This record gives sequence, C-alpha cells and structure tokens, in this order.
Amino acid sequence: MDGIKVELHRDYRYTIDVKNGVLEELDKYNHTFFRYEKAVIITDANVAPLYLRNVSKQISQAGCKVHEIVIPAGESSKSLAKAEEIYHHFSEYNVTRSDLVVALGGGVVGDLAGFCASTYLRGVDFIQVPTTLLAQVDSSVGGKVGVNLSKGKNLVGSFYQPQAVIVDPSVIKTLPKRNFNEGMAEVIKYGCIFDEDLFSRIYHDDGSRAAGNLDEIIHRCCSIKKEVTEKDEREGGLRKILNFGHTLGHVLEAYFNYQKYSHGEAVAIGMYHITVKSEKKGISQIGTAEKIKNILIKNDLPYTMPYLEQDKVEEILFRDKKFSGDKITLVLLKEIGEAVLVKMDKNQLIEFII
Ligand SMILES: NC(=O)c1ccc[n+]([C@@H]2O[C@H](COP(=O)([O-])OP(=O)(O)OC[C@H]3O[C@@H](n4cnc5c(N)ncnc54)[C@H](O)[C@@H]3O)[C@@H](O)[C@H]2O)c1
Ligand SMILES: [Zn+2]
Repeated sequence: MDGIKVELHRDYRYTIDVKNGVLEELDKYNHTFFRYEKAVIITDANVAPLYLRNVSKQISQAGCKVHEIVIPAGESSKSLAKAEEIYHHFSEYNVTRSDLVVALGGGVVGDLAGFCASTYLRGVDFIQVPTTLLAQVDSSVGGKVGVNLSKGKNLVGSFYQPQAVIVDPSVIKTLPKRNFNEGMAEVIKYGCIFDEDLFSRIYHDDGSRAAGNLDEIIHRCCSIKKEVTEKDEREGGLRKILNFGHTLGHVLEAYFNYQKYSHGEAVAIGMYHITVKSEKKGISQIGTAEKIKNILIKNDLPYTMPYLEQDKVEEILFRDKKFSGDKITLVLLKEIGEAVLVKMDKNQLIEFII
C-alpha cells in the first residue's frame, strides 16, 4: 500500500506508512535516521519487552546513538511529572535540536513523548511508531500531543506534527482483546462519519482481528484522518466530525472516574445513544442506530446507556473544553457515512444525553 502523504500549511509534509512487518525493516528509513546524531526511544513497560530491542538495534545500525526511556504503562504516565522526568533524561543525554525522539507505544506514549518533543528546546523532531489499534488509526495521526492534569484529560498540550508515522499492523497480534476492541470503536467511528464502504466491510467481517485485512482498514482510517486534519489542522470546523460519539463518551468516562469504561467503550455507547436520539428528532435516517448497534455487538463493544444522574452529568458536561460561549457543536449522522455538525445550547444538549 502506498504511504499516505500528509501536507499541512507552511510546506510541512510527512508520510504515514502502513505495512505489515515494517518494524522488521526499519533500514528503509535509514535516510531519515542518518540525519540525527542521537535518537531517544520512549516506550512503556509492556511494549518494551516485545518490540524495543529490535527497534533500538535497527536505529543504532543506521548510525544513531540510541537512548531508551521506559515509562510505566497506563494513563497515569501522561502527566507533567512524567514529562519533567523525561526532560531531565533529555538533558542528561545532551539532547539537542539535531536529535530525534521516537514514540514506540500506544496513545499514552505517543501523546507524552510528542508533548516532550514539542516543548524541549522549543521543539525536537519526533517519529511516531504506534503499537495499539487506537494509536494506529487515531492518536498518532493529526498532531495533537499533550498530558493530563488532575482536573481533566489532555488539558495541557500542543499541535506538533511528527516527521513520520510508521505503522506495523502486525504488532496488534500481541494487544489485549479489550484494547483491540476499543480501537475497533474508533474504526467504526470513521465508517459512521465518512465512509459507508468501510462501515459495511467491518459489518460483514467476522469481528476478529484474524479477519486478515486489518492493514487495509488501518490504512483507510489514517487516510480519512489525514484528509480531515489537512482541511482543518486546528479543529476550527470539519475536524469536529472526528468527535462523533465523544461528547457523551467523555461524560461516561468521567462519570465513572475512568474505571468502568475504556475510552473506546464509552465512545461506542456514545455513538449508538446519540444516534437513537437524533433518529427520534428526524436528523438521522431511520435504521441508522440499529446498524450501529449490530456492528458494536459484533465487535464485543457495549451500546446500552447506564443510569446517569442528571446533576452529575451536567457538571461534567459543562466543564467540557469544547464549549465555546454557551454553545457546543454536536456531531450527528444523517446516515452511515455522512456526519452533520449541529450547534446547540446546553439545554438542547442535555436532551441528547439523558
Ligand atoms: N492525540 C490524539 O489525537 C489522541 C486521540 C485519541 C486518543 N488519545 C490518547 O491516547 C491514549 C490512549 O491510547 P491507547 O488506547 O493506545 O492506550 P495505551 O497507550 O495506554 O495502550 C494500551 C495498553 O496496551 C499496551 N500495549 C501497547 N501496544 C501493545 C502491543 N502491541 N502489544 C501488547 N500490549 C500493547 C500498553 O502498554 C497499554 O497497557 C489516551 O491517553 C488518549 O487521551 C490521543
Ligand atoms: Zn477517541
């Protein structure tokens, strides 16, 4: 499959390569690694024993001096405290602006390593090597990097584009099933908002990662995200469609203190529930919610809304950073493959949520 060429303003370009086994052939990128004196690979404690040695060896063979930073796995590593530790390591290794940061891992590693790369010395080059399905189809593409604060997720961050995104779908084989499923929720989201063909393809697959065409599916999702982010790098308009299912999803995650639902599970419920409501309001074609429900069931994802107390929902909802003034833009579907943006006030939004 051809590399996906992302072209943003200021003549900034990079390629997203999606290829089974590409992590075994990193020498293909020697022309890139040659440009740097040192590379600092940041990964987590689960990914390190699986893939770090091999990636590290290949980058050293390209003539780069390699340093490795292994962070604890999990969302709690996406913090300013961890970023500070990483800055100290960078300074210990004498990282300069002619060096490279490589993010090898899921969205946590990508967001944290990208954030450190974007802020250290006002910007050191970085490459994303995403290893979860969610990171391969979503977080590694689009240039958002950041960390969490105790008040909320992703509250500190920036837009910072990588030099390249290297995606090896074959590493998904070691991913725990629950993480795989939540990646599938984002894949289904792309089908819902942009690509009816992608949706029906997944609808007719057997719902397992052995379906054999994961590389094509990942490639398609990256192409959609590329197309949308190129048109709207800083989320002024179109890019908002990527938030389908997420307004309610974020409420569900926060309501249960990030314990009950994973991000993808919460988004799955959000996509279904919001579409049931928008069908009732005549915005979505009748039958759209049923299709979403069936595809979620097939992919072992939840779709039923738990009981929620309205006061608590309102409190979470109204601190959403996506509110501008009194309005929020909600993403709804006209039908599978076509999203619409609907601006509404707080009361109208509550009607969609509860
Ligand atoms: N920047 C963006 O645009 C964007 C978009 C969506 C999500 N995110 C962020 O991404 C993060 C979630 O990412 P995630 O779902 O990838 O979680 P994650 O990075 O925590 O990875 C999930 C788990 O899988 C393990 N893992 C990773 N790759 C593996 C592999 N190949 N085999 C076995 N285990 C593996 C990790 O160690 C971890 O335990 C959140 O912090 C979220 O805010 C960012
Ligand atoms: Zn998401």
